[in-house]
Amino acid sequence: MTPAQVLELVASSPERGQALRQVAMTALSELSGYDWCGIYRLEGDILVLDAFVGAPTDHTQIPIGVGVCGTAVKEGKNQVISDVRELDNYLSCSTQTRSEIVVLIEREGVVLGQIDIDGHDINRFTGEDEEFLTQLAALLAANWDEA
Ligand code: SME
Repeated sequence: MTPAQVLELVASSPERGQALRQVAMTALSELSGYDWCGIYRLEGDILVLDAFVGAPTDHTQIPIGVGVCGTAVKEGKNQVISDVRELDNYLSCSTQTRSEIVVLIEREGVVLGQIDIDGHDINRFTGEDEEFLTQLAALLAANWDEA
């Protein structure tokens, strides 16, 4: 699986809503170094864990401003973290995680949620991943609700 194939698969899937988000996370988890792949949806002031692939996490609900995920919403900005050990405001899912990327899912300027990926290698995620995940986020935003 390549990033282009992930986008193609999601764009052509008949699924909608959470089922489509699960298709997307399953595809993403096949990319090298995408070791935990999940979606959080924003419900009021809380990020709620939605579709994911990887080890179960304790962080099923994250308030705005808390952790890398909550910071992305608070600042309205994607987060690309080279080494999570350098952060104070970090919620650990797995002791193996070294890098993390969070890309916001927005529709007409409203944050619907976010894509959160953890990697076991330092510096795993770059601007290229951010660009690719932003395209994926747009596909998910356009099909956010169940058909
Ligand atoms: N590391 C995230 C929490 C989510 S887990 O990685 C799945 C954070 O700091 O917000």
